[in-house]
Amino acid sequence: MRIVVASTPDAVAAEAARLVLDRVRQRPDLVLGLATGLTMVPFYRALLVRKAREHVSFDGLRIFALDEYRGGRPEQPGSCRGFLERHVLQQLDVPSGQIHLLDGLAPDAEAECARYEELMARTGGIDVQILGIGGNGHIGFNEPGSSLESRTRLAPLSQATRQANARQWGGDPQAVPSEALTMGIGTILSARTCLLLAFGAGKAAAVQSAIEGPVTASVPASALQRHSDTVFLLDEEAAARLSRRE
Ligand code: GLP
Repeated sequence: MRIVVASTPDAVAAEAARLVLDRVRQRPDLVLGLATGLTMVPFYRALLVRKAREHVSFDGLRIFALDEYRGGRPEQPGSCRGFLERHVLQQLDVPSGQIHLLDGLAPDAEAECARYEELMARTGGIDVQILGIGGNGHIGFNEPGSSLESRTRLAPLSQATRQANARQWGGDPQAVPSEALTMGIGTILSARTCLLLAFGAGKAAAVQSAIEGPVTASVPASALQRHSDTVFLLDEEAAARLSRRE
C-alpha cells in the first residue's frame, strides 16, 4: 500500500488524475471503476481538465460504476447514475455502450448484481478502481460488518451513512434510500489497482483505522491492506492521524 499526501484536495485530485491518465495512455482500453460522493467532485474536475490539456482519448475505455442506491432514479441528483452523468460521464468521450451502471430500479436486485459481476468478469475485470471512504470506514456501500469476501449485492445502509449522504438528497436522511446495490469488498479487491481518495478531518479516523488498524469487517476499507496495489491519496487533514506516511 502506498500513501500520497498533498496539501489540498485539489492537489490530491490532480495527482489522482495524473495516475489515471498515465494508465489510460499505457492502456487505451482500460477498465475503470468510478465512485460517487463529494470527494469525487474535484477529482473528476481535475481529470477532465488534464485530459483535455493532454489530449488523451477515452474512447476505448470501459467504465463500471461502484454502486447505486436501491430505488434511486437517474433524474434524482442523489442517485449515483445522476451524479456520475453530471460530474463526469456527460463530458467524456466514452461511447455509451462501454459505460456500465448498476440499475437501482431493477425488479430483481439479486439478478441485477449477478449480471453486473458477470459483465465485469467478461470485460476482463477492473483495472483501476477509484474509491472514496465513508466516515465509518465504508467503501462502495459496504458498511461495517460486510464480509471481506462479499461480491456485488444488495446491502443495507447504516443510519450514519444516510445522515452523511443526506446533503445529496435535499438534506433529509429519511429521503436517502435505505439499501444500495454495491460492488462487494471481494469485488473491489479483485481490481488490479485501487486508488482511494480522502479529504478533510472528518475522514481522518477512518483513514487511520483503514491503514494502521487491524484488517477487520468493522472497517471495510482495512481490507485494502490485503491488496497488492492500493494507493491512498490524502489531503493533510485526512492524513493527520497517521503515524507513518509511507
Ligand atoms: C458514498 C459512496 C462511497 C463514498 C462515500 C464518501 O457512501 N457510496 O463510495 O466513498 O459516499 O462520500 P463523500 O465523498 O461525499 O464523503
